[in-house]
Amino acid sequence: MKILGIETSCDETGVAVYDTARGLVAEALASQTAVHAPFGGVVPELASRDHIAKLTPMVQGVLADAGLGLGELDAVAYTAGPGLIGALMVGGSLAASLAYALGIPAVPVHHMEGHLLASMLEAEPPQFPFLALLVSGGHSMLVHVRSLGRYEIVGDTLDDAAGEAFDKVARLLSLPYPGGPQLAALATDGDPQRFAFPRPLRNQGLAFSFSGLKTAVRLAIEAEAAAPGGLTDRARADVAASFQAAVVDTLVDKCRLALEQTGLGTLVIAGGVGANRQLRERLAGLGRRLGVRVCYPRPALCTDNGAMIAYAGACRARDGDRRGSGPPRIVARPRWSLEELTPPRADVG
Ligand code: KG4
Ligand code: ZN
Repeated sequence: MKILGIETSCDETGVAVYDTARGLVAEALASQTAVHAPFGGVVPELASRDHIAKLTPMVQGVLADAGLGLGELDAVAYTAGPGLIGALMVGGSLAASLAYALGIPAVPVHHMEGHLLASMLEAEPPQFPFLALLVSGGHSMLVHVRSLGRYEIVGDTLDDAAGEAFDKVARLLSLPYPGGPQLAALATDGDPQRFAFPRPLRNQGLAFSFSGLKTAVRLAIEAEAAAPGGLTDRARADVAASFQAAVVDTLVDKCRLALEQTGLGTLVIAGGVGANRQLRERLAGLGRRLGVRVCYPRPALCTDNGAMIAYAGACRARDGDRRGSGPPRIVARPRWSLEELTPPRADVG
C-alpha cells in the first residue's frame, strides 16, 4: 500500500509517502518560522493561510519525488487533531477531497499517535509493548503503549508542557521564536549548576509540572538583570543550561519511575523535545543502567513531520477498509485524548 501523509496541525506543513513494501519513499517539510517569528509565537490564522499556500505544490512535489501518479495511491492520511482548528481543516480538506476524487480512503490520524509511532520508521524499530515519553509543545506525558491504538496515559502534566516551558523560558531570555532549539543551543555554553532550579514533583508520582520552574527562572533572570552589570551573556547561557538540566533531570527521573512501575523493557522517546541532545544522552544512560532498550527517532522525526502521519495512517489502513465510501468527511478535533483511540477495526474483529 502507498499512503500519502499530510500534517498541518500547527506551524509545519509536512507531506510524505509511505509504502508498506518499501518504507518511506519521499517527504517534504515547510517550516513557518519566518511567518510567526515577528509575533514571537504561532498566529493561528497566518498558520492556516500558509498551509493553504504550501500544501498543494508540496503534495505534487512529493509525488513527483516518489515517482508516483495520484492514481497509484491507496489511501490519504491526514492529521485530524489535536491542533489548531483552521490549520487542521486545511490538511483535512485536501486529504478528504483528494481521497474522494480517487475513490480511496481518507484516514484521520491522531497527531500524538503519529509521534508515538515515529520511531518505527527507523531501522530496528521498537516492539510493542513499550513506555513512551511524549514531550512536545502541547503535551508532556508518559504513555503505556500496549499495541496499536491501545494507549494508557500513566503520567501527564498538571500545567505547562515541557516544550512550552522551553519556549516560555526562551522568550524570557529574549531568544527568537521558536525558542526550544535556540535555548538548547545557548545552553551548550552554560554552566548547568550555576542556578539551583527546582526539580518539580521529584519522587511524587508520574505527574509533571513546569510552571513553578518557569517562575523560578523568571525570578533568577530578574535578579541578574537588577545586579551590577545586568544580565550578561554568561548569565544567560548559565540560566539556559541550568533550566535545561532541571527539565532533563525531571524527565529522566519520571521515566525511571514509570519503567519501574510498569516493568516495561523498552522506552521510546517522541515529540519535539525528544530532539534535545542532552535529554537523548541522559535517557540513553538511564537505559544502560536499567537494562532497558531506549529508542528514539532522528531529530527530524521527533519534531512535526508528514512521515509519521503517513506511517500511522498506513498502520491503520493496512487491515481496514480499502475502499473509499460515502461523501467526503473531514475530521478535525482541536482537543482529542490519546486514550480515546481504539485499535483499527480489523484488529478488533
Ligand atoms: O512535536 P513538536 O514539533 O510540535 C508539537 O506537536 O507541539 O514539538 C515542538 C516543541 C516546541 O516547544 C519546541 O520548542 C520543542 O518542541 N523543541 C525542543 C527542541 N526542538 C524542539 N525543545 C528542546 N530542545 C530541542 N532541541
Ligand atoms: Zn507534534
